[in-house]
Amino acid sequence: MKRVWLATLVALVVAALSTAAMARSGGADPFNRCVGCHKSTGLGIPGYAPPLAAHIPDIERAPGGRTYLIQVLLYGLKGEIRVKGKRFDATMPAFNDLKDGEAAAVLNRILTSWGNDKLLPKDHKAIDPGEVKARRENKLTVEQIHAIRGKLGLK
Ligand code: HEC
Repeated sequence: MKRVWLATLVALVVAALSTAAMARSGGADPFNRCVGCHKSTGLGIPGYAPPLAAHIPDIERAPGGRTYLIQVLLYGLKGEIRVKGKRFDATMPAFNDLKDGEAAAVLNRILTSWGNDKLLPKDHKAIDPGEVKARRENKLTVEQIHAIRGKLGLK
């Protein structure tokens, strides 16, 4: 019985220490949460998760696209979409647990990685945490996000 208590105590101390270490380092990089599906190459998983490489700048350029990028990250997406002629029909999970600054940082990361930076307009401005904050007021469903995407006129 004593051993069980000791093991529990050790586990608790380890958990507390690693939480403290995470807090000091500002937490794990939220981009790590994207790579399981969209891959560190940004190429995604054919037939499941769309590529972010050579695609996110097209979204940002579309009227309403910048707002959509924030919304799809915060609220997810479900329904059939096409990216450069390829069909996807799965679910993007919601990431509304990210802080405004973390969400902005992840979006700026996917906007500028894998050569995406070269595909952005010259006057492109990084997404500001305040823009993320403004999208928290109106919570949307995955189906509503799908409808918003449909209006972007993406090819
Ligand atoms: C569990 C797998 C999964 C994870 C994790 C994930 N995504 Fe997705 N993502 C998807 C899927 C699947 C879609 C397409 C959904 C559909 O078919 O309607 C998608 C769509 C998107 C889109 C919209 C693309 C478009 O053309 O409209 C963006 C932007 C995006 N993801 C960014 C991210 C970012 C940033 C992260 C990390 C914070 C992330 N995703 C994490 C699976 C995932």
